[in-house]
Formats: sequence, C-alpha cells, structure tokens
Amino acid sequence: MASPRIVPFVFLLLIVGCSARALYPLPSRRNDRNRQSLQTFRAYNIAHRGSNGEIPEETAAAYMRAIEEGADFIETDILASKDGVLICFHDVNLDDTTDIADHKEFHDRKRTYEVQGDNITGYFTVDFTLDELKTLRVKQRYSFRDQQYNGKFSIITFEEFISIALDAPRVVGIYPEIKNPVLINQHVKWSDGKKFEDKFVETLKKYGYGGSYLSKQWLKQPAFIQSFAPTSLTYISNMTDLPKIFLIDDTAIPTQDTNQSFWEITSDNYLDYIRDYVVGIGPWKDTLVTASNNYLQTPTDLVARAHARNLQVHPYTFRNENQFLHFNFSADPYNEFNYWINKIGVDGLFTDFTGSLHQYQEWTSPFSSGEDDAYKFLDKIVAMISKFKHT
Ligand SMILES: *[C@@H]1O[C@H](CO)[C@@H](O)[C@H](O)[C@H]1NC(C)=O
Ligand SMILES: *[C@@H]1O[C@H](CO)[C@@H](O)[C@H](O)[C@H]1NC(C)=O
Ligand SMILES: *[C@@H]1O[C@H](CO)[C@@H](O)[C@H](O)[C@H]1NC(C)=O
Ligand SMILES: *[C@@H]1O[C@H](CO)[C@@H](O)[C@H](O)[C@H]1NC(C)=O
Repeated sequence: MASPRIVPFVFLLLIVGCSARALYPLPSRRNDRNRQSLQTFRAYNIAHRGSNGEIPEETAAAYMRAIEEGADFIETDILASKDGVLICFHDVNLDDTTDIADHKEFHDRKRTYEVQGDNITGYFTVDFTLDELKTLRVKQRYSFRDQQYNGKFSIITFEEFISIALDAPRVVGIYPEIKNPVLINQHVKWSDGKKFEDKFVETLKKYGYGGSYLSKQWLKQPAFIQSFAPTSLTYISNMTDLPKIFLIDDTAIPTQDTNQSFWEITSDNYLDYIRDYVVGIGPWKDTLVTASNNYLQTPTDLVARAHARNLQVHPYTFRNENQFLHFNFSADPYNEFNYWINKIGVDGLFTDFTGSLHQYQEWTSPFSSGEDDAYKFLDKIVAMISKFKHT
C-alpha cells in the first residue's frame, strides 16, 4: 500500500484531471489504483435509478449526483431500442418520463402490447432506434418532486452508464436489472441470433465486470445483476459468476417468465433452489413487513428464512416523502432507515434519496480510518477548487 501521505495527492491529481475531461468516449481509461474502495461493513446504499428523488431518473446527471452523495451502487433498468442497443430506462413505454408527447414526428408509433398479462398502450422503447430515443428528453416521474430539470437530459445507453461508474472518483458499483426480458426478446432481434440476456452479459464483460461476490476482481468493479425473471438469472448463470439478485414483486404479481406466484417463489423449497444461482433477494419492502392503514404490521419471516440460507436481502424502494413513509416513522426517513437496518437487518437498500441514506449511515456507523479522514479533507479541497473554477 502506498504511503498515506502520497495517496491523497495522487488522488487529488486524478480528480482534478478527471473533472476536466469529457465523460465519453468509452471505455474509461482512468487509472484507478488509488481509488477509495467499496465499503462492505454496512448495508449497501443502492442509488435507485440514480438520485431520482432530485433529478429525473436514469439520466447521467442523476447517476453523477448519486455518486457525489455517497452511493455504493448505482442502480439501473436495462431495456433495448429497436436497433438492439441496450439503454437505461425503467418503463417499457416512454409516456410517463419523457417528452414523447411533444414529438409529433413519432405519433404514428403508438402501439398496444401485452406486457406481463396486461395490454398496455403507448410509445414503446422497442419501436424506436437509439438515434430517435436520443432526440427525446427525460422528465421527473412524480409531480411533487423538483421539475426544474425536465427537458434537460437524454436517455443514456448501458455503456454510457458503465462509463459513469468507472469514471467515479472512488469505487462505485453498478446494479443493472435485466428488465422485462420476455417483452424485449419478443420485439427485438439481434442479427447474430443472440438474446437480450446474452447482450446484457456481453456488455458487462466488455468493460471488465466479472468475478464472484467479494472476489478481488469483483471488488475492483463491483456489480450485482438483478432480475424479476428466474429464467434470465439461471440462463446467465453459466455466462458470468457475477453475483445475482432475484427480485420479488408484490404478492399478487406472478413471475413474468415462469408464471409462479409470490408464495411459490418465497417458499423454503424455492429459496433452496434459487440460492444456487443468486446471492440474495430483492423484495418489495411492504411484503417483508406488511402495512395496514399505513401502519406496519408484524414482520414476516422471509428475511430470517433468506438469511438462514446465506441469502442477502436488498429491499426496495426507500423514498423520503410522506406519501411513501408509514405512519410509524413519524414522517422521518431516518426512522425508517433505522428500523430496516437495525431491527430488520437488511443487507442493502434501494433508495431514491442516496444522500439521505448516506448521511444517516455516516452519522450512525461512519468510516473511522485515518485514510477516510484524508479523503474527506480532499473532498473539501476539490469542492473549493471546483467552486473557484466556476466563478
Ligand atoms: C390484449 O389484446 C388482444 C388483442 O385485442 C386480445 O386478444 C388479448 O386477449 C388482450 N389481452 C388482455 C390481457 O387483455
Ligand atoms: C450450465 O452448463 C451445464 C454444463 O454445460 C449444464 O448442464 C446446465 O444445464 C447449464 N445451466 C444452465 C442454467 O443453462
Ligand atoms: C398463470 O397461473 C395462473 C394461476 O395458476 C393461471 O390462472 C394463469 O392462466 C396462468 N397464466 C398463464 C399465462 O399461463
Ligand atoms: C406501527 O404502529 C402500529 C400502530 O400503532 C403498531 O401496532 C405497530 O406495532 C407499529 N409497528 C412497528 C414496527 O413499530
């Protein structure tokens, strides 16, 4: 290990050098030998769609903000364009979070497709080329969140997302989801006969992602692969040893690929089966501790049964606003973090407000090494320099 006196100055030069260079082209050529490593001693702070509580979801700006705010992992949903490019976008259609309605040139693209048993009408990503998608601008999903960034940012590709993580001034993991694989494989055909899942794993490998959980390779470029579709997870299990997380939807929603009920996929038998393929589960938090009249009920035993099988539990989604906080938490998101981290004992949290979770964790279980103090000092210097540059 380099002497602690030298590390900060090399680190500072890297940050300053980096802030001046363009985000693209790919891939990142950053020298990352001296980057602060991923913390693994406390629950993971997973920036759900970036810091989308503040900035429109899945945009470069939302991800960069999440990195500034202390995310351990930046999370994204991978879909595909008509011409087979993997993109970061949550909904199968563009209607709710882009300005597609203002683009008259695309109005003949409206379609109705069956998605997970429901007919959905709208403008689907799979009917637009990447070039066409790039002409759209993303907007905030919720009306009660900051609208000032609407129309400012475009949809990004999976590769652009990866470059943001690789360019971060410390090790930041990625947490991409194989999103709606049934629909994507129905509508998008790749010329080499490959499937969506093949393209997904190929992209990760292209940028050096690989290695089992906590292996040396993994710690350099950490990644969790997530999916609601068990067949996608088992299909890729022979292609990459990266850790995988099995997402679990609400109790009424069957799996999109195997049509299995919530009760079946959370049974002891099923957990025994899936643990050969995944390192953890990602359930909706209200299925772990159900609520009635917005008050929490007795926790279910799912977390205990998962932990008994050495499966991590990363529930979703933690959101600061009152309309998402159960009354037990007295309208205080820190109370909610405290409950899930210290009472339920989860291993990671998907949050729309990475900054809040980070501050809560720094307050309750901070890094304590001298090296970290040096990084905090450097952060201050870097902040001062960047202020100076902007005035
Ligand atoms: C969706 O629409 C098609 C065509 O109209 C119809 O055959 C199918 O039953 C519908 N599916 C659902 C789930 O409503
Ligand atoms: C992985 O490969 C082995 C050996 O080729 C095969 O038996 C197994 O069925 C494969 N698993 C999956 C999920 O494709
Ligand atoms: C899924 O399973 C449910 C319950 O067993 C069944 O009623 C339904 O027809 C199945 N759907 C499909 C598409 O197989
Ligand atoms: C939440 O509040 C309800 C109503 O007071 C109470 O019954 C329940 O035990 C509380 N749950 C937790 C986890 O504090």
